[in-house]
Amino acid sequence: MTRTRKGEYSTPRYYEIAFDLNRKAEVDFIESCFRRWSRRPVRQVLDIACGTGPHLLRLARRGYRMAGLDLSRDNIAYVRGRAAAFGLPVSLYCQDMRRFALSAPVDAAICMQDSQGHLLTNGEIVDHFRAVARALKPGGLYVFDRFIPSSWTNPARRWSWTRRRGKLTVRATFAALEAVNPVTQVFREEMDFEVLENGTVKRYHQHHLSRMVFPQELKALVALAGGFEFVQWFYGFKLQQVLERAKHPLMMIVILRRR
Ligand SMILES: C[S@@+](CC[C@H](N)C(=O)[O-])C[C@H]1O[C@@H](n2cnc3c(N)ncnc32)[C@H](O)[C@@H]1O
Repeated sequence: MTRTRKGEYSTPRYYEIAFDLNRKAEVDFIESCFRRWSRRPVRQVLDIACGTGPHLLRLARRGYRMAGLDLSRDNIAYVRGRAAAFGLPVSLYCQDMRRFALSAPVDAAICMQDSQGHLLTNGEIVDHFRAVARALKPGGLYVFDRFIPSSWTNPARRWSWTRRRGKLTVRATFAALEAVNPVTQVFREEMDFEVLENGTVKRYHQHHLSRMVFPQELKALVALAGGFEFVQWFYGFKLQQVLERAKHPLMMIVILRRR
């Protein structure tokens, strides 16, 4: 048995298997939003902080011309390999979502699995929205999800689950909202993967900082950034799950439209 400590998001294959949870439903929802609210035909889509590409690859298979952006070279290399294996043409950028520039604007953008949590200050969040606004054509949508704490006083949460693919088993533990700083709203997230492959068990531990935003705060930051109109928000990946109807929302999925 070996225990390996790795940098952030440096085990893409295990991450992809562990988090292959609700991806199809998320992509169905994203497409419903494009159909319902985009003011332009959606052909080119940018997946911001695309990670191992669960949304990017599914959308590419559905016929969208996909671009992916991520700070992790390991993840970009992983997506490149998967896209090549499926014969899907994709454009990939190893860039920072706080300050990126594309060679040409796209019709829509997405940013999933609370990836905006990596933006730790109001300034970074505003810079991000401005970069996305520059990357989008007028009338194009920006769809993203953010986790919301269910409790402010005792928010820490830990989940464990197991996923199998072929002969590989990944037991994942994800801990969020550890050591919340109530002023900066920054906290620690931890991921542990116990991987069983060919009779060998390996353990990987990764952690990073994340920042929570509350719904009204998010709206204010979007307004401050400029360039977007607010369209709608949801607490789940179904169009009837409008955020205002939720009693204890754990996430918000936000739809913005480029002015
Ligand atoms: C929670 S993962 C989500 C990945 C993918 N969107 C998904 O749904 O599985 C967050 C991703 O954000 C990337 N990331 C973190 N900081 C970033 C930054 N400043 N710019 C671009 N990507 C970043 C990480 O490398 C990681 O792939």
